[in-house]
Amino acid sequence: MIDAIDSIEIYRIYPLYPIYKTTPMIDNKAIFNISYGLFVLVARQGDKDNACIINVAQQVTSDPLQLMICVNKQNLTHDMILRTLKFNLCPLSEEATMKPFQHFGFQSGRDVDKFAGCEQELRTENGLLYLPKFINAVISCVVTKSIDLGSHTMFIAMPLEAKVLSDSPSITYAYYQQHIKPKPAAAPAAGGKKKWVCEVCGYVYEGDELPADFICPWCKHPASDFKLVE
Ligand SMILES: Cc1cc2nc3c(=O)[nH]c(=O)nc-3n(C[C@H](O)[C@H](O)[C@H](O)COP(=O)(O)O)c2cc1C
Repeated sequence: MIDAIDSIEIYRIYPLYPIYKTTPMIDNKAIFNISYGLFVLVARQGDKDNACIINVAQQVTSDPLQLMICVNKQNLTHDMILRTLKFNLCPLSEEATMKPFQHFGFQSGRDVDKFAGCEQELRTENGLLYLPKFINAVISCVVTKSIDLGSHTMFIAMPLEAKVLSDSPSITYAYYQQHIKPKPAAAPAAGGKKKWVCEVCGYVYEGDELPADFICPWCKHPASDFKLVE
């Protein structure tokens, strides 16, 4: 069944979209079993420094050494990388608190200067910043390829500089969920509005029904990542 979302554009990006539409045997829990790390992704365009949190980053080949990151097109960091073709990827470590997630992951550099008042001398050779804490390495990359995935762009990149900053272990998404992310808010009082909590970042939506097309304003994850608070 073709619906309004279908267009020539979607077939260009997803040639197999008709198959996807007719094989809905997806148990999201199976998808959640894929493990991820968490990273601060830093960019710089002109005089503007910015960064966001991402979980989709991976080394994809070793010879030559290539990495992959996937960034939502709504993120300012995305546009900055698309224009400058460079970024710093910084794995978050077990020293991280909720602070870097709130600061870099729940607000956009379009609205705030995320590096205002930060130590400006902590830069790699490419001129980009990195954090004095919460991360255990900084990897400076140059983009060699970008792939349009619809909502996101996948960037393939080669590291030009990489250094270890701490021996604290990298965190996984599961570690973030268990040890860092705030616990879901309490259930609503009888007769009150229902609450849905974003299982990714902890944002709470209140209302009669969670819209199917709702996008988390903090982490940009879809309605399927929300759980009703019972
Ligand atoms: C735990 C967590 C994981 C996230 N993972 C991703 C991701 O993999 N890709 C992405 O594009 N955004 C991800 N985000 C959302 C961005 O960090 C967020 O939208 C940020 O505010 C964008 O900032 P910017 O507009 O300054 O670039 C994540 C956020 C959080 C809190």
